Amino acid sequence: MSRPVQSVSALAPIGINAALEAASDPSITPRPKIFDEFSLADRVAIVSGGNGGLGLEMAIALCEAGARATYCIDLPAEPSAEWVASRDFVQKLGNSSRLEYISADVRDQKGLWERVENVADKEGRMDVCIAAAGILKPHTHCLEYPAEQFKEVLDVNTSGVLFTAQAAGRQMVKFGNGGSIIMIASMSGSITNRDHAWISYNSSKSAVLQMARSMACELGSERIRVNSISPGHIYTNMTAAYLDKFPHLFDKLSGMNPLGRLGRPDEMRGVVTWLASDASTFCTGSDIIITGGHHSW
Ligand SMILES: NC(=O)c1ccc[n+]([C@@H]2O[C@H](COP(=O)([O-])OP(=O)(O)OC[C@H]3O[C@@H](n4cnc5c(N)ncnc54)[C@H](O)[C@@H]3O)[C@@H](O)[C@H]2O)c1
Repeated sequence: MSRPVQSVSALAPIGINAALEAASDPSITPRPKIFDEFSLADRVAIVSGGNGGLGLEMAIALCEAGARATYCIDLPAEPSAEWVASRDFVQKLGNSSRLEYISADVRDQKGLWERVENVADKEGRMDVCIAAAGILKPHTHCLEYPAEQFKEVLDVNTSGVLFTAQAAGRQMVKFGNGGSIIMIASMSGSITNRDHAWISYNSSKSAVLQMARSMACELGSERIRVNSISPGHIYTNMTAAYLDKFPHLFDKLSGMNPLGRLGRPDEMRGVVTWLASDASTFCTGSDIIITGGHHSW
């Protein structure tokens, strides 16, 4: 009895099957396909928090992998100089990829749904969503934490991630091509950073981990994969706010992982391209931890 074929790679034959086919037909010239699996050719993406930091770094990676268009969503009415330079850089890559900018607040559920619907209708598809917008507040003791500030952090870091994923997911269902939703959580969703009083941030990121698992279970039948990434300490505007103010923390945090340094934003390029692409088609409901080993100690 032969087993039913449940799925086939879009690039089939690959791997062993390609080897067997080549063995049975000497006219076939084998060629590597592994990087084809990472290709995002013709895909359309949105990235919240894409005006700088990890979001923009990830958006450029998607464009380099061939995405037709990556729409960066962020608060300012006009994008940063860094974003403009990135758009021009992408334009010159010669792979027809585009970086676009949309000013929006991830807390505005209906506004976000509408803007992303307009993008999907214009492009005729929606394939990838990276929810990277986030905020971090200064240390505040857990027993004194003010209600308003707690709500503000959860509104952006948790509700905002849900609204972003909804906005893209609704279009992925509409166009029926499946899709990949990537939520940027944090190792702070699983561990508590020693000596840091960040209860709102930590709680908001824990919620994102469970949100990714829950959405993955609801959306699997639509071929929409939902995963989270949990970065460790990476030097961006968010972390510069305390690392520049308290320089001793730079050495302290660098020494808290086995690699002995902070991460670079560009070290997110590989994982995000993998999760966005067909190289990860059996990965959903997972949290990918990228911390230089911080969580191992
Ligand atoms: N840098 C790190 O060490 C680190 C570690 C773990 C997780 N993260 C997470 O990575 C993500 C990106 O952080 P980053 O370090 O690049 O910080 P960042 O401050 O450089 O980028 C965050 C972006 O989110 C945008 N944003 C904030 N509120 C928004 C809103 N209401 N609507 C739309 N956009 C909004 C900001 O304008 C900013 O461009 C965040 O979710 C953060 O929590 C960062």
